[in-house]
Amino acid sequence: MILSKRHIYNNSTVSKLSVICVLFGFLFSGSTYSQETERTVLTLEKNWRFHRGDVENAFSQSFDDSKWETVTVPHDWAIKGPFDKEIDKQTVAIVQNGEQVATEKTGRTGALPYIGVGWYRNNFSIPNSSADKKVLLLFEGAMSEPEIFLNGKKVGSWNYGYSYFYFDVTDHIRGNGKNTLAVKLTNRELSSRWYPGAGLYRNVRVIVKNKESIDQWGTFITTPVITSELAKVNVKTKASGKDLKMVTKIQDAEGKTVASDTAHTIYGDEFEQNIAVENPKLWSPETPYLYTSVSQLYAYGILKDEISTRFGIRSIKYEAEKGFSLNDSIIKFKGVCLHHDLGPIGTAVNKSALRRQLTILKDMGVNAIRSAHNMPSLEQLELCDEMGFMFLAESFDEWAKPKVENGYHLFFETDAEKDIVNLVQATRNHPSIVMWSSGNEVPDQWGSDGAKRAKWLQDIFHREDPTRPVTVGMDQVEATMASGFGAVLDIPGLNYRVHLYEDAYKAFPQGLILGSETASTVSSRGIYKFPVVEAKMKQYPDFQSSSYDLEACSWSNIPDLDFVLQDDKPWVIGEFVWTGFDYLGEPTPYDTAWPSRSSYFGINDLAGLPKDRYYLYRSRWNTKDETLHMLPHWNWEGREGEITPVFVYTNYDSAELFMNGKSMGIQKKNMSSPTHRYRLMWMDVKYEPGTIKIVAFDADGNPVAEKETHTAGKPYKLVLEADRTQLDADGKDLAFITVSVVDKNGIPCPIATNQLKFKVKGAGTYRAAANGDATSLEMFHLPTMKLFSGKLVVLVQSDENAGEIELTVSGKGLKTGKINISTKN
Ligand code: GAL
Repeated sequence: MILSKRHIYNNSTVSKLSVICVLFGFLFSGSTYSQETERTVLTLEKNWRFHRGDVENAFSQSFDDSKWETVTVPHDWAIKGPFDKEIDKQTVAIVQNGEQVATEKTGRTGALPYIGVGWYRNNFSIPNSSADKKVLLLFEGAMSEPEIFLNGKKVGSWNYGYSYFYFDVTDHIRGNGKNTLAVKLTNRELSSRWYPGAGLYRNVRVIVKNKESIDQWGTFITTPVITSELAKVNVKTKASGKDLKMVTKIQDAEGKTVASDTAHTIYGDEFEQNIAVENPKLWSPETPYLYTSVSQLYAYGILKDEISTRFGIRSIKYEAEKGFSLNDSIIKFKGVCLHHDLGPIGTAVNKSALRRQLTILKDMGVNAIRSAHNMPSLEQLELCDEMGFMFLAESFDEWAKPKVENGYHLFFETDAEKDIVNLVQATRNHPSIVMWSSGNEVPDQWGSDGAKRAKWLQDIFHREDPTRPVTVGMDQVEATMASGFGAVLDIPGLNYRVHLYEDAYKAFPQGLILGSETASTVSSRGIYKFPVVEAKMKQYPDFQSSSYDLEACSWSNIPDLDFVLQDDKPWVIGEFVWTGFDYLGEPTPYDTAWPSRSSYFGINDLAGLPKDRYYLYRSRWNTKDETLHMLPHWNWEGREGEITPVFVYTNYDSAELFMNGKSMGIQKKNMSSPTHRYRLMWMDVKYEPGTIKIVAFDADGNPVAEKETHTAGKPYKLVLEADRTQLDADGKDLAFITVSVVDKNGIPCPIATNQLKFKVKGAGTYRAAANGDATSLEMFHLPTMKLFSGKLVVLVQSDENAGEIELTVSGKGLKTGKINISTKN
């Protein structure tokens, strides 16, 4: 989390920052840079040339790329599709799902064209540097197997698409003239279990600094002593150069310096400073207070480098029987797992899309995120620091033994250590990270080699960061009890296997268990199936799953079973539900059916719209706000007189249901079964069109809240609602506009599937749309889509000129909807 103070530039973006720097600097090759400043960070965003497929000599500086497509980075070359069932079709038996016979899996990796080679080229200039500059080329992820060429020479390569990595390119850079960067990426088939995306999907930066400078990721800030009067902040800083001095200032959230220290002594290549901060404000999910450490490096008395690192003051403890505590208070992880794709915009990292996800999760009461099953984006970590989420940062889905033919096992022996080192060094100053994970359901859980690997990896994490424990998400719980694998880990993580928690707790020596992955309940937003019964791997002809939230996989369970463990066992330290949002790929239970190309596991759908389950979790996790949610919808033409159960997810203990004014009785949560403990259920309601109403009672039996659902008439009018009505005019910011259709009386039409069209005018562009239907083959980037269960979401992106954006949504026979969004610089 290293921010270079004042000196982040976007190439060919004339930002306010660069205008200021003109005062000190000079104009070069159309971009402005400061010569005086200690370091320059150039983010290569614009004017990339991109080509699908391999091309001879594309690495050479003189190569003519003028016919290639112009793109901005972050970029995902596959998200525009089209979907195609033949792409990465995998005829396999998924052993970890208990399959013994190979079947043809379509859509397992999203059915989007990510396989093959892609080339990117970018021309850039750096400030006219003299011989004493050092230049680094930094990639925050590149999918995958990037090979990197600068000015026609290969400067390096990396294998793992999720890793952050950099190369020192001082010997290859031209200080006075054009530099040409070329990157080749190769995605193999059978290399993933989900949609990994394709291309330069995270940021690429050029860092120009002095030879005497702070090392990349060379800062490590910890807070070993915390009392209410004082925190000891330990700042370790690796630096290069002679006759060095380090001045470190700690600033509070308002930028006021609250403590500082000057160190003349360097231990080997590292300064170590211990700085007292008085009356520290602690970081927590409720109070995500952040400090900044500003490190200034002097050589022979001259300022040579300066970086700013954000950090938080907080303590973490994991104790047998007691559990996990943050700042000395026991707290359970109310977590969700997330894959890295952002639905309709694919994997190209975008901060406003990430912020929207976290805003939705915050309202649900989530306090922790697990980056399944790989390194998170740095943007996501920054947001978790700011918004208050704890983070379980994971590294691998495979070690030496394969899950998929071309998976990470190909690189494990040679790369695992350096991938972990980069993960830890690049992210360890984020207060949000409270645990590392070295693996997910690795087949190495079997046998003694696996236990050795678990220890080897854990030792690397400990060496790089002695302050946080390491877990592995284990699904082969019995094997890990027998082999010693589970005993090695700091924190034993169980994926599913609710029936084995007790045994594991007794067998493992740690005295606590983490639900590292839980539930994997499947549902489709707004779709309800009858009869309402619990089921595993249930399939329907429309390839949807029921939103009564009673369907799971052969290996997984409904949320209620996890709630029981979380509530009754103090030694269970929390859970990470699979998953917070639907993601591209892994369309279980329809992985052999077509069309079906994205998951059903999400608590929210691929468009980010909440499914019913959202309210089930919210009723437990959001302890501040009222939750009173009723399902299903009440538009069941043709089901008159048939049993149509009504469920209510609420933080209240009891409620009374009325259908067209008639009481259907009072239900009270009770211990007779896990579902009755957490849901209010009226199982015998016979459908009549009209109104269902729920009245909730407080503990004394007083009515305190009510909600109604009405049968809707014909779709009449489109209604638009934006998550934000003001955007930054930075060419990246996004507004998410939920479009729904209502009848003449304004009642939402829950089964509408009208085809809609989108038009954007003014200071922005149409970016994408999504409706959350896992079976839809409509492309996200085209300005038309069908409603799914009466809703969809349109993404509108600002351009770089401040002004007004107008989105118009129309559909045949429907009153058009319009919304304005303003943008500012
Ligand atoms: C787990 C696995 C996840 C996902 C999930 C689906 O076993 O770790 O990546 O596949 O199952 O239920």
